Amino acid sequence: MRAIFLAIGLMCLVKYAFSSSLPSLLNYEEVSFNPPTLRKEITAEANKIVGGTVALVGEFPYQATLNLGGRLCGGTLIATSIILTAAHCLADMSASSATTFKVTVNTTKQSGGTGAISRGVRKFVVHASYNPNTHDNDIALLALTSPITNVRFAKLPLANTTSTYADQLAVVVGWGTTSSGGTISSNLLKASVNVMTNTACNQQYNNTITSGMVCAASPGKDSCQGDSGGPLLIRDVQIGITSFGKGCADPRFAGVYTRITRYITWIKTISSTI
Ligand SMILES: *[C@@H]1O[C@H](CO)[C@@H](O)[C@H](O)[C@H]1NC(C)=O
Ligand SMILES: *[C@@H]1O[C@H](CO)[C@@H](O)[C@H](O)[C@H]1NC(C)=O
Ligand SMILES: *[C@@H]1O[C@H](CO)[C@@H](O)[C@H](O)[C@H]1NC(C)=O
Repeated sequence: MRAIFLAIGLMCLVKYAFSSSLPSLLNYEEVSFNPPTLRKEITAEANKIVGGTVALVGEFPYQATLNLGGRLCGGTLIATSIILTAAHCLADMSASSATTFKVTVNTTKQSGGTGAISRGVRKFVVHASYNPNTHDNDIALLALTSPITNVRFAKLPLANTTSTYADQLAVVVGWGTTSSGGTISSNLLKASVNVMTNTACNQQYNNTITSGMVCAASPGKDSCQGDSGGPLLIRDVQIGITSFGKGCADPRFAGVYTRITRYITWIKTISSTI
């Protein structure tokens, strides 16, 4: 299996070497947002959707499945050659291991299938201030070996967004386990969750929720192990990256996500230099 991934990666590298065009990086889609009215457990299987329903084909084409040398994480295509994911998916990996990684987008099947588009990874950057103990700054970017065109990007909030998104309905997407410690889902799942205030979330997590985090919860619905790095979305705007949580869908503990609005400048800077 690894050999196959490696072979694909090498083919992509060769393809990249012969295409002299620079990777296009700064083609974000940004949208304004009008307020209407980890998951993570740091294991190889890390996070999945509990209480979800199967995503429709074409609903989240930008959702990426990342095979990081055997570790599965989620991610999102945010520009033709850039994948956004969680730092904890990559923090313990060596730079040279990127050649063993495989990224697949435009599919609802964990195993690929109709319409699936795969690429190798040229390089990855983990946020320099990522803290594995507090999970603060849980954000990373991957540069693909060659661009992916014709697949819709996850949109990023505008850099000047002041909304905290509190009390708004969002959707979390992933292939993770359907219960804490369960098995990975073969179909992409989605679940709607309510965004909380950090004040309310801090009451659950003993004041360990930072301004770089956003929490969301709904009765019986949550991200879980295997969903790490995937998106928390309001319409097609990504407001969070699945990061961590205590258990999955435990009514006492919300899911915690990296708060994208805090990192727009970081994303743009790294994307243009990676
Ligand atoms: C993405 O997947 C859809 C549905 O399977 C397919 O119709 C479409 O051609 C794919 N897009 C690309 C760019 O391959
Ligand atoms: C935010 O930025 C966008 C585009 O850069 C601009 O159109 C909009 O007016 C700005 N909004 C505020 C509240 O400054
Ligand atoms: C919060 O602190 C209390 C007492 O120190 C501890 O029992 C509890 O497990 C902590 N909760 C979390 C989410 O860490």
